[in-house]
Amino acid sequence: MLRCFLLHSHDLVADHNVSAPYGAQLQSLFPRRKFARRCVLIFAVSSVNQFHAMAAKQIVVFGFGAQGSAQARNLAGSGEKVAVFLRPSSPRIEEVKKTNIPFLTNMKQAAAEAEIAVILFSDGEQPSLWKEIEPSLPKNAAVIFAHGFNIHYKQITPRADLDIILVAPLAQGDTLRSDFAEGKSTPCLIAIAQDATGSAKKTAFDYARAIAKDGPFIETTFAEETETDLFAEQAVLCGGLFSLIRTAFDTLVENGYNPDIAYFCCLKEVRALANLIHENGIGGARERISDTALYGDLTRGPRVIDNHVKDEMKKILGEIKSGEFKEELLNDRKKQNPLLRRLKEQGKGHLIERIHEKFKGGGS
Ligand SMILES: NC(=O)c1ccc[n+]([C@@H]2O[C@H](COP(=O)([O-])OP(=O)(O)OC[C@H]3O[C@@H](n4cnc5c(N)ncnc54)[C@H](OP(=O)(O)O)[C@@H]3O)[C@@H](O)[C@H]2O)c1
Repeated sequence: MLRCFLLHSHDLVADHNVSAPYGAQLQSLFPRRKFARRCVLIFAVSSVNQFHAMAAKQIVVFGFGAQGSAQARNLAGSGEKVAVFLRPSSPRIEEVKKTNIPFLTNMKQAAAEAEIAVILFSDGEQPSLWKEIEPSLPKNAAVIFAHGFNIHYKQITPRADLDIILVAPLAQGDTLRSDFAEGKSTPCLIAIAQDATGSAKKTAFDYARAIAKDGPFIETTFAEETETDLFAEQAVLCGGLFSLIRTAFDTLVENGYNPDIAYFCCLKEVRALANLIHENGIGGARERISDTALYGDLTRGPRVIDNHVKDEMKKILGEIKSGEFKEELLNDRKKQNPLLRRLKEQGKGHLIERIHEKFKGGGS
């Protein structure tokens, strides 16, 4: 079986396996082009040399969720030899069937075939599933993670003969996939925890290029990726932002303002500002807001996010670095997440959720 790849048009043939006779199969893929059998063979071999950066090693992607689905499709689009493992009960089996990417439902068999194993199960499930995968992995296989948590906090301690690699796309799975399909690159963090073969770094960069084109790729360590990722989601992206929105909403409502208006001002308009910052940075966004908004930003912003907030951020970072946050999280998980479930239920009862139900889909 030979995987076919067309220069500059790889998405056109993504997910198509081409086996001999090549001419006939390419003809059916591209009915309006004329393929001579000999010229197709030369074309196919040269494409392997140019694009099979991982030397046609068998890649097995474990899990087909947000990242698994995107990475497997991008690998196929880059002409890599990729298969997917899903559990037999997975609701995503029909979805993977539509891609033409081969899939396995036997974990041991999938592990035994994996010259490169990509662990894209949910982070909480990885340590127990790893115990099933590891014994069957071939000697000197490469193992790729998309987040450093389980290696950094020693929830997984792999065999010494394995290359342990981090390729963490700095994007949600659907963005990684849509950017690739549109020919755009995605930034990734890259790190090596174990280099048993001496070629872990090459494998990491080859893999990153196959899922994210030209990056940029930033070299880091498992520790730095894990700690900055946890800190950013706690201080800004989830914890900080969600609390900021709800506290501002509560302040308006408690002072007699219409909750519908508070919802639009404090929640819905965040999207426009997030896009502005994403495109232009904070300085550029400041060039594009009204002079009144700018004055309010510069004089009041530092009062909202003051030194007390920074001190709290430092404490939170300390808990991440010391492992205190990890211990707390894993203890809750061990007991089936009682704290997580209680706090999630509490959040659902907030007025802002009822207003959101009312206006779902509408607004800016
Ligand atoms: N989401 C992101 O944007 C993002 C970004 C960068 C890095 N990451 C990292 O990527 C990795 C995967 O995250 P994700 O967000 O893609 O996860 P996800 O969407 O929750 O998908 C998890 C996958 O794991 C499978 N799975 C879970 N438990 C299983 C079990 N017991 N047995 C077999 N399969 C099981 C699920 O199977 P079913 O199909 O059967 O449900 C699903 O296919 C994580 O390390 C995460 O930190 C994620």
